[in-house]
Amino acid sequence: PEQEAHYSERIMAELKAKDAVLVAHYYCDPVIQELAEKSGGCVADSLEMARFGSEHSAQTLVVAGVRFMGETAKILNPEKRILMPTLEATCSLDLGCPVKEFSEFCDQHPDRTVVVYANTSAAVKARADWVVTSSCALEIVESLMDNGEKIIWGPDQHLGRYIQRETGADMLLWDGACIVHEEFKAKQLEDMKALYPEAAVLAHPESPTAVLELADVIGSTTQLIKATQELPQEQFIVATDRGIFYKMQQLSPNKTFIEAPTAGEGASCRSCANCPWMAMNTLEALLLSLQNGENEINVDPALIPKAVRPLQRMLDFTR
Ligand code: 13P
Ligand code: SF4
Repeated sequence: PEQEAHYSERIMAELKAKDAVLVAHYYCDPVIQELAEKSGGCVADSLEMARFGSEHSAQTLVVAGVRFMGETAKILNPEKRILMPTLEATCSLDLGCPVKEFSEFCDQHPDRTVVVYANTSAAVKARADWVVTSSCALEIVESLMDNGEKIIWGPDQHLGRYIQRETGADMLLWDGACIVHEEFKAKQLEDMKALYPEAAVLAHPESPTAVLELADVIGSTTQLIKATQELPQEQFIVATDRGIFYKMQQLSPNKTFIEAPTAGEGASCRSCANCPWMAMNTLEALLLSLQNGENEINVDPALIPKAVRPLQRMLDFTR
């Protein structure tokens, strides 16, 4: 803790000196989340991270999260400098959706509107008509459906299937998945529910369908946090990355939060309820990136005008 405090102080001083603000995701290590709050930055879901970065006056945004979050910040703010503690933090959804294959899929269905999840590369966003995150995907697809549009959805199959089921929209799905949420298991969750009959089950929609069927609330990280404040229950079984417990506990110190069960445990499961890429955002890496201006995110300038359109549409839709 002493060393953490030392790093935090140095990072705060660097942020000030460099006209920089720290934007962190709820899955980051609690020390990073705490620092983002203390330094006047923000901790948020992927949609609000994008909005906060665009609306803040700082010339440098330090994005603690995974690569697509840094790229989104750059696409929306090409004039700003975007730093990340590491450039190695990717996402299995992004990795599982290479632009060439995805574009070919889209080309085969030219009559369909292309809706992609924010967890994608800049090139995939540039091929899309809409970008969505889990906090607005349902509403955006509903409005497209009301417009009579048929949809290509990528890359998360579980979120896609959930939206399809909820809205009845005509959607062709890419088959990507999140390695963290895929590990949540319905059978074990049922057993856990029996053990905690009073608990409400909260699940991120990247979880498998059988897990979502057992959930009381399905939503983005922000929506799940809100549910812990608004629901009358005192206990919650939570199917998402455990980084989220920091904020849940902070807002409801007297409630109990339990990790939803996964198949593997400990070292046998590298990605169980803890995104290995989010975990790369350490205090040390954050300080180095600020001190040396290292790990700057750059996006091919030719892609920016195309990728910004579907992103801006999402921000305008959710304003
Ligand atoms: P949210 O948009 O809900 O924050 O989710 C981002 C993410 O990567 C979930 O795994
Ligand atoms: Fe990607 Fe899953 Fe990690 Fe979120 S938790 S960044 S979807 S791998």
